[in-house]
Amino acid sequence: MQRAIQLALKAQFRTEPNPIVGAVLVGGSGQVLSEGYHEKAGSPHAEVVALSQHETVPEDAVLFVTLEPCSHYGKTPPCTELILKKKVKKLIIGCQDPNPQVSGRGIDMLRRNGVEVTTGICETACRNINRVFNKHIVTQSPYLTIKAAISLDGKIAMASGESQWITGALSRSRGHELRSQHQAIAVGRQTLVHDNPRLTDRRVGKTGQPIRVVYASRGEIPLDSLFVNDRQTRRILIAGNDIQPEVEQRLIKEGIEVFIGERSRPSVEWGLKQLYQAGVCSLLIEGGAELIASVIREKAADQLCLFLSGKIIGSATAKSWPGELGIEKLADVPHLSIDHIEKLDDDLMLTCFFRRLTIN
Ligand SMILES: NC(=O)c1ccc[n+]([C@@H]2O[C@H](COP(=O)([O-])OP(=O)(O)OC[C@H]3O[C@@H](n4cnc5c(N)ncnc54)[C@H](OP(=O)(O)O)[C@@H]3O)[C@@H](O)[C@H]2O)c1
Repeated sequence: MQRAIQLALKAQFRTEPNPIVGAVLVGGSGQVLSEGYHEKAGSPHAEVVALSQHETVPEDAVLFVTLEPCSHYGKTPPCTELILKKKVKKLIIGCQDPNPQVSGRGIDMLRRNGVEVTTGICETACRNINRVFNKHIVTQSPYLTIKAAISLDGKIAMASGESQWITGALSRSRGHELRSQHQAIAVGRQTLVHDNPRLTDRRVGKTGQPIRVVYASRGEIPLDSLFVNDRQTRRILIAGNDIQPEVEQRLIKEGIEVFIGERSRPSVEWGLKQLYQAGVCSLLIEGGAELIASVIREKAADQLCLFLSGKIIGSATAKSWPGELGIEKLADVPHLSIDHIEKLDDDLMLTCFFRRLTIN
């Protein structure tokens, strides 16, 4: 199963909206007969790759798969049919598929047809390699990561709004890597005004770029910003119903898709549903403080990546991350689990998960 996980990870961040999956066919004396992984949406599933070179598998062969085989027709036929056709007798599965279309049906179907199925081997690891898929397939909403670069005293900018750069070059490079791991990147209007961010992954050799998203209730954003003028990827603006028709038309003319909510400032949840329908399975929110606070207040975030520098800003009027959460009791504050800490030159990168998530 460890080998199957390694294979699955080869396609990490390249299979959306599908999960990453690895499969290994092992012979009776423990030798690897064949293996495979799912490379991208529309390409053969891991089980198909691993089984394709066999007319039928040897009697004593065991197939290891990180995720329950699918039992429904999608872009490709169900893997359960192929497993039966190739006469696999023993199947070891890492974790059940949370997809409501599968969710145990694949396992039941195989057992009913005489396959000996064992589940839950390296279960946590097999589940955690698909955090994005596990979230979006169940909730129909993107996996949401918050990213912020902060000072030692938790500030995201000077009192003047100046924030470039709080952290060092290595942290910023990791920030770009995070961008490449998400299908879209979002900022609030004030960040667009202060920083004019490019919202691209600028590491050497990078080709495809994420979708760029700006939250601005009335759509009033600087027309000379890079968001408006750099047309290399899709751009989406999330606005409220107070947006003036001429502002909306002007943005559309610039090639920006404008999603207009049901209120003067639509809920984060509403925006996420719209983004999901537009094909976004994972979203990186890069600030600022006010947008991050909204996301946390609405309990919409799954993950937090904090880049912590050794600088002290030391100003009561400088913005902290997140902005105002308005919680009065310590018992009610969000409590994240800190998953890991990395040293990046003089900075630290903290990766945390919001605890409310049970599907991780
Ligand atoms: N260090 C870092 O990592 C980092 C990252 C980003 C930004 N920054 C800094 O942060 C500062 C900007 O942060 P900020 O807190 O002032 O503003 P912000 O969060 O960037 O933008 C807030 C604005 O977003 C719009 N918005 C639309 N929908 C929203 C929603 N559901 N919830 C919240 N806002 C929504 C609102 O404008 P409308 O009312 O017009 O809709 C609101 O005023 C700048 O100084 C920037 O340099 C630092």
